[in-house]
Formats: sequence, C-alpha cells, structure tokens
Amino acid sequence: MRRRGCNSWTSTNLVHDLEDEEDMIANPMLTHSYVVKRVQQETYDTFTIELEPKNKAQAFSFAPGQFNMLYVFGVGEVPISICGDPSKPETLLHTTRAVGTVTNALRKLRRGDLVGVRGPFGTSWPVEEAKGHDVVIVTGGIGLPPLRPSLYQLLSKKQEYGKLVLLYGARTPEDIVYGQEIEQWRKRSDIAVDVTVDRATGQWRGNVGVVTTLIPKASFDPADTIAMIVGPEIMMRFTIAELQRRGLRDESIYISMERNMKCGLGFCGHCQFGPFFVCKDGPVFRYDRVKPFFGKGEI
Ligand SMILES: Cc1cc2nc3c(=O)[nH]c(=O)nc-3n(C[C@H](O)[C@H](O)[C@H](O)COP(=O)(O)OP(=O)(O)OC[C@H]3O[C@@H](n4cnc5c(N)ncnc54)[C@H](O)[C@@H]3O)c2cc1C
Ligand code: FES
Repeated sequence: MRRRGCNSWTSTNLVHDLEDEEDMIANPMLTHSYVVKRVQQETYDTFTIELEPKNKAQAFSFAPGQFNMLYVFGVGEVPISICGDPSKPETLLHTTRAVGTVTNALRKLRRGDLVGVRGPFGTSWPVEEAKGHDVVIVTGGIGLPPLRPSLYQLLSKKQEYGKLVLLYGARTPEDIVYGQEIEQWRKRSDIAVDVTVDRATGQWRGNVGVVTTLIPKASFDPADTIAMIVGPEIMMRFTIAELQRRGLRDESIYISMERNMKCGLGFCGHCQFGPFFVCKDGPVFRYDRVKPFFGKGEI
C-alpha cells in the first residue's frame, strides 16, 4: 500500500496508468484509472461508489478528511471526500450527492465503468491530537461522509478518548445518509448519537429542528473537547456560536471548507480562501486560523 506525495506538478492533465511510483509522486496531475466495483444508493440523490485501481499497485492510504479529484472521462473532474475506513484503504469509497454536471455523470456510472482518480489531497481531521479528550462531531446531510473515516478511527481506539458525541442533522428523514450505520452506532455504549431533521415526514418520531438545537443537551466537557464540523457555511457558523456558548475555545474547533477546485494542488488559485488554498491548506482548518476570513461572502 502506497502513501502518495503531491509536491510537484506537470501542466498537462493526462489519463495515464502508472506502473512506477516515482512517476506517481512526480505527477500529481495525472489521473489514474479506477474501476467501479459497486454503486449503492444512499438517498434519492446520494450514492456511494466503491472503486478499485485498474492497476493494483496504485492503491494508496489516506487520512480522514482527505479528498480525491474524481474525473468522469469526457465530462469533468470534481473534489469528493474519501469516506471509507482508513484502516481498509483498499476499499476506496466516495459518497456523492448529484447536484450538477459531473456529479450527475458520476451517478450514471455502473459496475465495470472506469473513473479517473487523483489524490489523496488536503489536510486531515485531528484524530491523533484528540487523544485523551472528548470529541464532538456536528454535521448535516452530505457532511457526514467526510467525517466517517474519523469516526471509524475514533471508535476503533475508543479507550484512548474521552466522551464521543455525534450530532447529525438532515433536511428530512429521507435525506439521512448511512441510516443503518447510524442505528448501529446508536446501539453502542461508547458513542452518544443524536439525530434531528428540519422537517418531519412519514413515520419520523425523532427530534425536529436544526442540528444546533442538539448542542445544549449533549454531554461533553467543554474545557476538554475537540469539535469537528462539516456543513454549509451558515450551519458551521451557528454551530461554532453554539459550541462557544457551551465554552469551547476557537483552538478546539475544526471545520472543513468547500471551494470550487481545478488543480487540487495549490497552483491554479480556484479555491482561494483569504490567504489559503482550500485544496492544499485545507479542507480541514482549525477555526482560530481562518476566523478572520470565515463567513465573509466575498472571500
Ligand atoms: C474538499 C471537498 C470535498 C467534497 N466532498 C464531497 C463529498 O464527499 N460528496 C459530495 O457530494 N460533494 C462533495 N464536495 C462537493 C462537490 O465537489 C461538488 O458538489 C461538485 O464539485 C459539484 O460539481 P458538478 O459538476 O456536479 O456541479 P456544477 O455543474 O459545478 O454545479 C451545478 C449546480 O450545483 C450547485 N452546486 C455545486 N456544488 C454544490 C454543492 N456542494 N451543494 C449544492 N449545490 C451545489 C452549483 O451552484 C450549480 O448551481 C466536496 C467539495 C470539496 C471542495
Ligand atoms: S484547486 Fe488549484 S489552487 Fe486549489
């Protein structure tokens, strides 16, 4: 299993099957062919694709929070978080919501089709730094997939952490991703899981309201907690405010940012966020470092 480096660049974006590790490290713009092994529908607009490298030597390890650039041949390339278990990197999973041109083309892929993959790119969640502390994960809708790898890591070494809390919100019960897995986590005694929906439909008997309404009643020690948040920027802003109301410091809060991307390597400037590039300096940022730029529409 290889750990890929991404520190140099060639200007051409080639479709290429690499045999040689040096080539792979030297050409992070090269896309590698992966075969679709399985497609699983998660909700009406969200699906998980499982990929395997056409050339097995191309398999790579990843850290929770990192993303790949997925290329639908002839259509385009998009950044999508890796959402599987980092201890099983041979199973490369991406959960995607179909929102536009490329993600809709991804949705049409079937077993045996080829996809281009570049990565893994970006920073990761502070799973190591969180050892010995309580961990609170707050997320909504399609924000859970980028956090699932850290949940797997935290749960696999739960004895090394304090309390573990997952607060998850979705627009409606039909928008909840990984519903069965959430139910399994709920049954565990080593993680507290609370789920809410903005609007109840069907048989829903659970919480109704935005995800921030779950924060005041969650059990954790604010003076000794690391928070990890993924969601639309407005949701993250209200979540940060609520966590601060509970007493969390800015340095204990981590967020994942989204921007349009092209190179994924800090060269093209598409993903600029203040003085940062989301692809290279993020997507995971410690809140105190980006606070001056966060929530400003023009940045
Ligand atoms: C680091 C990173 C990780 C990401 N991880 C994931 C992931 O794990 N799963 C996932 O589904 N997405 C993820 N995204 C978002 C994903 O990259 C975009 O949804 C995708 O680029 C949209 O491309 P498109 O060609 O399908 O849509 P486009 O054709 O570019 O856009 C079509 C329309 O959709 C709107 N749109 C674009 N993006 C979004 C969005 N995210 N939500 C709602 N509307 C949107 C646009 O405003 C436009 O109106 C991630 C983004 C980043 C930066
Ligand atoms: S996507 Fe090119 S600089 Fe980030």
